[in-house]
Amino acid sequence: MMKKILTADGTETFLNEEYKEAYHSTKAGAYTESLYKFVLPCKIPQLAKKGRIKILDVGFGLGYNVAVAIKTALQENSSVDLEIFSIEKDISVFEKIKSLSFPENLKSIFDFLLSGKFQKYFLKNFTFDSYFIEKDNIKVKVLIGEGRQILKKLAQGNFKFDAVFYDAFSPKVNTEMWTLDIFKVVKNLMKDEAVLATYSASLAVRKGLLEAGFNIGLVEPVGRKSYSTVATVKGDIPPLTEKEKKRLETSPYAFPYRDENLSLPPEEIKKRWEKELKKRLSQT
Ligand SMILES: C[S@@+](CC[C@H](N)C(=O)[O-])C[C@H]1O[C@@H](n2cnc3c(N)ncnc32)[C@H](O)[C@@H]1O
Repeated sequence: MMKKILTADGTETFLNEEYKEAYHSTKAGAYTESLYKFVLPCKIPQLAKKGRIKILDVGFGLGYNVAVAIKTALQENSSVDLEIFSIEKDISVFEKIKSLSFPENLKSIFDFLLSGKFQKYFLKNFTFDSYFIEKDNIKVKVLIGEGRQILKKLAQGNFKFDAVFYDAFSPKVNTEMWTLDIFKVVKNLMKDEAVLATYSASLAVRKGLLEAGFNIGLVEPVGRKSYSTVATVKGDIPPLTEKEKKRLETSPYAFPYRDENLSLPPEEIKKRWEKELKKRLSQT
């Protein structure tokens, strides 16, 4: 039985049975979270004005981030050329989307997202299982499979994105997607001015982004107390507070998850991190 949840802004989400987490913050709301934690921090309206946008969407899930990005970009520029590469390992998300009710203003976009076709996508020497959705100037390719491997292959294909929505489940349960090592791959997939946005406020995640070579900044909280995080190589982002800078320098929790070969199971990455934490705590 799939468990549907009504979120604070009236939009619906699901509980994911494998991770025991909801796809969206129930307190912020699915739509609100997409807009304020991903689409606006990644400057989709400003990018739309320029005419062409390439977005990397890590964790397609129920498609809200993609839907809100399309809606926002089209509102800003109805002839925008928008290409989105999404990454998703779980093909059952399409069935889940079919059973959600959507607010009136997103209905046509979700109809569009459900109009895609499963097909192979060939890129250089790689073949991906994928789900293609295309209409006029809007193209969405959901690449289906293990995220780390897909990101590595895209990086070898020399892709460069203008924005990254980074939306895996939480670092505690989905640890393989939050390591310093995967952030280095993602950084190679971004233009210098591009912004990566994530809901995570974890010190391990922030430190991982810093050590991967990003500048990081904070985004005003929505539906909770913690600020979310943006990262960029050379783009313009809001600054870190002095308090957060200090925490990142001095807290024993401020060190990244590691997965040098991008192959460890999440439990193993977490176990290693916890072992190191114990060592650090015993030294403080
Ligand atoms: C929090 S949900 C994403 C919600 C989505 N962005 C939305 O707007 O509806 C995280 C998604 O990441 C996917 N995911 C988690 N780990 C992954 C991995 N290692 N590779 C590929 N996809 C992964 C999950 O299956 C899940 O659909």
